[in-house]
Amino acid sequence: MAILHINVDHVATIREARKTTEPDPVYAALQAEQAGAAGITIHLREDRRHINDRDVRLVRELVQTKLNLEMAATDEMVKIAIQTKPEIVTLVPEKREEVTTEGGLDCISQAAVMQKSIDALKKEGIRVSLFIDPDLHQIDQAQKLGADDIELHTGEYANAQNDPQKASQLKRLEAGAIHGHEAGLKINAGHGLTYFNVKPVVALPYLEELNIGHSIIARAVYVGLHQAVIDMLALMD
Ligand code: PXP
Repeated sequence: MAILHINVDHVATIREARKTTEPDPVYAALQAEQAGAAGITIHLREDRRHINDRDVRLVRELVQTKLNLEMAATDEMVKIAIQTKPEIVTLVPEKREEVTTEGGLDCISQAAVMQKSIDALKKEGIRVSLFIDPDLHQIDQAQKLGADDIELHTGEYANAQNDPQKASQLKRLEAGAIHGHEAGLKINAGHGLTYFNVKPVVALPYLEELNIGHSIIARAVYVGLHQAVIDMLALMD
């Protein structure tokens, strides 16, 4: 079974709506771990719109499972990652005006920038994952750049409007997972996954990790975070 990493950015988004101290994403990370999450994911954005530097420090100190730090491939973020030493860095594209990460990295046109960040992180013993669309050229490029993992962007699958569209997006994800595995990459997936669409994704071949945030934090409003994590784990099993 694939393992579940919980993205707690959305807890920080609620905190930042009032620029106060609650709810605390660090507390949420620890609760998610207690409920059975195998890892915690946080995205430190350049504009610090949700997770901030204090959260990164405390989550690193307190999380006992694995920390996946999502970030843009910039010098500032690479420096923070090297100080923080997460188990995994996931490089993601970042645009200030977007509401959430909109698409996968273009690691072909951005090859030089990617290579510099990947080399610096790997030199420090940090596993590097690239968040990419299930595009075979991008997957080949991820391998060439020396990534350890790829996180397949499931957003297009999640946004599919009908069953044929969903089936065709799942086929792309499946082909991407097989291609990535054959290239020696570890296969992760995430973005837009919910209690209603996660099952076919869990069944993808070679899938090792799922990163899920919004849907789990949304359900936590009604049932509490502990129960929301347990509900997702039950669906994935
Ligand atoms: N994976 C990556 C790379 C992301 O950027 C995000 C969103 O922060 C997620 C997974 C989680 O997406 P969602 O909040 O839609 O579950």
